Formats: sequence, structure tokens, C-alpha cells
Amino acid sequence: MRDRWGREITDLRLSVTDRCSCRCRYCMPAEGAPRTGELTAEAYLELAAAAVRCGIRKIRLTGGEPLVREDLPEICRGLRAIPGLEELCLTTNGLGLESLAPALRAAGVDRLNISLDTLRRERYAAMTRREPPGDLLAGIRAAEDAGFAGLKINMVLVGGFNEDEIGDFLELTRDHPWEVRFLELMPMGPCAAWPRSCFLPVSSVLERAPELEEVSGRGVARRFRLPGGAGTVGLIAPLSRAFCGGCSRIRVTADGHLKSCLHSREEIPLAGLRGEALEAAIRRGIREKPRTHHLTERSSDTPRSMNQIGG
Ligand code: 5AD
Ligand code: SF4
Repeated sequence: MRDRWGREITDLRLSVTDRCSCRCRYCMPAEGAPRTGELTAEAYLELAAAAVRCGIRKIRLTGGEPLVREDLPEICRGLRAIPGLEELCLTTNGLGLESLAPALRAAGVDRLNISLDTLRRERYAAMTRREPPGDLLAGIRAAEDAGFAGLKINMVLVGGFNEDEIGDFLELTRDHPWEVRFLELMPMGPCAAWPRSCFLPVSSVLERAPELEEVSGRGVARRFRLPGGAGTVGLIAPLSRAFCGGCSRIRVTADGHLKSCLHSREEIPLAGLRGEALEAAIRRGIREKPRTHHLTERSSDTPRSMNQIGG
């Protein structure tokens, strides 16, 4: 269905936990993040089925880190069985994929986005505040071995932390058929108070690599390719080139609140609703979706951080 601004809403981002195996500095406090709670697998399935009846065709599971939920394959299988759902995707930090990737593939997950902000072990430890895995690319390789094609790697650009790795990330697309996506850091949660110098525009990627050739693409990323590269490069610019006008998403937090905009304060509680009442609440959220965020003027209006909403 369309919102009141005429945008067709087809994508649901469903967070299935606010727990995470990392504590990335821009996303979570060092310890003791307030828990918001999670719903049961059945509750997420009921909610997702109602969303599909409201016109949702694609679902992306997020967290926190979805892989920390033991019943994740069961949730995926249930979602895959919803008539009318065309695509099921998952965003993960990759930890645990070595054991779980085959089960997720078997459960019907179509595509994976894997978050990785650095290729250097000591930086990984500093950013995620945890021990790095033996091989930082192990999760990505495991996904590939399990048969996931069109893998996307999300790298959040953080000024003073990883901008000197832009070249190394671009190199990954030379031999691998992956899409490496550079994301602008959004001021929300812990990083809302960080200095301006941490917030780099994705144009820094084009400045570093003028040889990138633009290729056509759809969705929120502008897409490029290194000459002769096997993979592609995506630039996602929520700040410097807001894509609200084409936004087709709604989100549901792990504790069952519908957020029609990532950065808005407005939330509609869905937990406990069923059938027609659930559908009516989702339709209301879609209709009332805000036209745009205000990130160029101020930090995100949402008091939640990403681990509660999902990326
Ligand atoms: N700005 C941009 N991206 C963020 N993510 C988490 N917090 C932020 C933020 N403030 C990213 C994660 C992951 C995805 C789920 O969202 O790094 O790639
Ligand atoms: Fe890092 Fe994502 Fe976990 Fe946040 S949810 S701590 S960004 S891995």
C-alpha cells in the first residue's frame, strides 16, 4: 500500500533481538545497554504475515544480531512459508555464520548483508570491544560456501577510524563478486555526541578512487565498479544525499513496535495485537510515515539506538 506521500511500502525490517555479539562503539554502550525485550518466534510470524497482507513483499531480519537467537532458522522457515513474501534477507555481523550459514540457506534465506567496518584485527577489537575471530572474512566465506550469492558487505565510514581502509575494501571487489557498500555514519545512540569529523560523506570514496565507474542500480545505493572488477561498490548516503523520497520501508523493533521511519520518535505498539487489529495498526503506521528525516539539522529524533531498531 502507499503512504500519504504516495510512496509504495514494500519492505519490512524486522528486528528479532536487541542482543548482540559485538558492542560497536557507535551503536552500543560499553556495558549495560537497556534491554527492550523480544517477542516469541510465533509473534514475529504473525506480525510478518499481517504486514504481507498490507503489501509487504520483502522482509529483512535484523537485530542487534539476529544470529544470537537460537530459533532463528525456525523464524526464517516460518517467514518463508508466508504466501506473497517474495524475498527474505538477513543483516548480520557475520559472527557464527561458519556454523549457521547452511541452516539459514536451508531455511530459505535468499540474501545476506554482512557488516564489517575494518579489515585490521586491532581495529576490529577496538571498535567492537570484543576478541576478533581468527579470520575477519570467515563469515563471508562461510556464506559463500553455503551458496549465498550476491553477498553485500556493509562498511560504516567513521572519520579517524577506517577511512584509510577505503582502498583495501575496494580491492575486495576486484576478485570477489561481492558488493562492498560504504555507509555514512548516522548520528544516533552513542555516536550522536561524536565530533563532526567522524561523519564522513561517502563522496570520500569517489575522491579516493576516481577510477570507479558508475553502473545502474536500484534501491538506496549508488552503484559503481572498479574497471574489470568482479564485484560492485555501493555508496549509501543517508546524510549527504537523503533518499527519503524513495523510501519503501517500515521497521518493527525487537519488542514489537512499528516504526515507519528509522529516525522518528513515533512508534505504534503491535505486541499483543492479532488479526484485523494488527493489520489496522500496521496500515495506520504506513499511512502516517513521515516524509523525511531531519539528520542534516539535528541528531536522530529516535531515543533508540540501532541495536534496538535494526539497521
Ligand atoms: N550509522 C550508520 N550505520 C549504522 N549501523 C549501526 N549503527 C549505525 C549508525 N549510527 C549499521 C551497522 C550495520 C547495520 C545493521 O547498521 O554497522 O552495518
Ligand atoms: Fe555492532 Fe551491529 Fe552489534 Fe550494533 S548491532 S553492536 S553495529 S554488530
